[in-house]
Amino acid sequence: MANVKFHSGEQIPLEMHKVRIVQKLNLPSVERRLKAITEAGNNTFLLKNRDVFIDMLTDSGVNAMSDRQQAAMFIADDSYAGSETFIRLENKLKEIFDTEYFLPTHQGRACENIISQILVQPGLIVPMNYHFTTTKSHITLNGGIVEELICDAGLEVTSSYPFKGNMDVIKLKAFVEKHGADKIAFVRMEAGANLIGGQPFSLNNLSEVRKVCDKHGLILVLDASLLADNLYFIKTREQECKNMSIREITLKIASLCDVIYFSARKLGCARGGGICTNNKDIFVKMRELIPLYEGFLTYGGMSVREMEAITVGLDETMDEDFISQGPQFIAFMVDELMKKGVPVVTPAGGLGCHINAMDFVSHIPQEQYPAGALAAALYIASGVRGMERGTLSEQRNPDGTETFSNMELLRLAIPRRVFTLSQIKYVIDRIVWLHKNRNLIEGLTFVEEPNILRFFFGRLKPVSNWQEKLAEKFRKDFGDSL
Ligand code: F0G
Repeated sequence: MANVKFHSGEQIPLEMHKVRIVQKLNLPSVERRLKAITEAGNNTFLLKNRDVFIDMLTDSGVNAMSDRQQAAMFIADDSYAGSETFIRLENKLKEIFDTEYFLPTHQGRACENIISQILVQPGLIVPMNYHFTTTKSHITLNGGIVEELICDAGLEVTSSYPFKGNMDVIKLKAFVEKHGADKIAFVRMEAGANLIGGQPFSLNNLSEVRKVCDKHGLILVLDASLLADNLYFIKTREQECKNMSIREITLKIASLCDVIYFSARKLGCARGGGICTNNKDIFVKMRELIPLYEGFLTYGGMSVREMEAITVGLDETMDEDFISQGPQFIAFMVDELMKKGVPVVTPAGGLGCHINAMDFVSHIPQEQYPAGALAAALYIASGVRGMERGTLSEQRNPDGTETFSNMELLRLAIPRRVFTLSQIKYVIDRIVWLHKNRNLIEGLTFVEEPNILRFFFGRLKPVSNWQEKLAEKFRKDFGDSL
C-alpha cells in the first residue's frame, strides 16, 4: 500500500490495485445459517460455499491473482518432463533465494512429508519456534517429537512485542546442550507463525538461531509459507532492516537456512509448493521421493499453469506495495475491534485477524472448544466463515486426554486483495454485536471425532439449544435484515 496521508486525518488502508473480475456473493438468512451450521456438524470446514457470505476460513489458495499471473498462465508449457514453465519457476526461486536446487510438490504439507521422511528418525526431536498442524502430524508420523521454543511474548495474547514469532535462543542453546545434537533431527523456523496469530520472527532472531545451528552442526529448515507477511514486518518493524529492500531481506533470510519449503497456496498466491536448498546431499535424498509421492521432477503434482502463476506471484512478493496489503487490512480490523473492546491478538500479525476466544467466551471450558463455538456463533450471526485455532485443532494424547491449546483463537483470514474495506467493516459490525451477546454462546461437543487432523472433518453439536437462542436474538435486534 502506498504511503498516502488523508486530509481528514483518518487512517485507512488504500488499495493499490483495481478489481477487474468479480464473483457474486450470497448472504443467506439467519434461519438458513442456523440450518447450514447444523448440517456442517458445527465445523466451518464442512460448510458449503453457497452458504458462506465472507469466506475468512483461510488465505490458502484463495488469494486474488494479478493480471500478470493470469496472463502468464496462458503461456504455460505443458509437458511431463523438462517444461519451460518449470525452468522459469526454478530460475525465479534461484533468483530470490539464491538456492541451487528446487524440488516441486503439490502443496506445503507434501514438502513436510518429504522433509520428515528424510530427516526424522524415531525418537529424534525437532525444536521449532511453533508447530503447524500438518507439520506436527508429519513429524510425529515418522516417530519424531516436536519441541516448541517460542519466546515468552509469543504466548501472550496481547503484547506490544513486534516479533512474537521469535524462537527463545537461550532455551534453544540449553535444549541442544541437554539432549545433544545427535538427538535433534533439525531445527525449524516458521515465518509468520501461523497458530499464534501469524506472528513474525526478526532477522536478528533467525541469525541467532543460525549461530546455534552452526555451533552444533544442526540443519536449519525454514517454513516460508507465510514469508510475505514476515518480510513486511521485518521491513517495517526491525530498525536495522529499514533501508534494506524486500529482495535483500529475502536473500539474507535464505542465506541463513539449509532448507526452505513453502506452500505456494500462500507464498506466490497460486497453488503448489516446493523445497529449495543448496545442500546437495539432502537434495539427492529428497529427490527420490518426489516422483513417488508428487509427480515427475519438473512438475511435482502442480499444473503448469499454476507454476507460471507462482513464478509471477513470487516476483510480485518482492514488491512492498503488494505484500503490505494483507497486514494493513489486518491491522485495520484489529484496531477497530480493539476500540470496541473485542479481545484480539496484538500486535496485529499476518494471515488474518485473530479473536481471543479464551476471553471472548471465557465462560466456556476448554474441553467444550470455545474457539470452535465462537466460529459457529459468528457464522450464525453473519455468514462469515472463520477457522478454529485452538484445542480442536490439536491432537489428543495417546491416553485419550485432550491437549489443551495455549491459545484459543478464532482466525479470520484475510486473503490478499479479495475483500473490500466495506466488507471488513461488516465483519467488524457483526463481531461487535456478537461480543455484546456473548453470554448466549455455549460450548460444543464431538459427535464424530477422527483420530488425526480432527478439525478438518470432525462433527460436533452444541451442548444445549444456545444456537436457536442466538438466532432468535439476532432476529429481535436486526428484524428483516440479513
Ligand atoms: N506451513 C504453514 C505455516 C501453513 O500455514 C500451511 C498451511 C502449511 C505449512 C501447509 O501447506 O496447506 O499447502 O499443504 N496452512 C493453511 C492455513 C492450511 O489455512 O493456514 P498446504
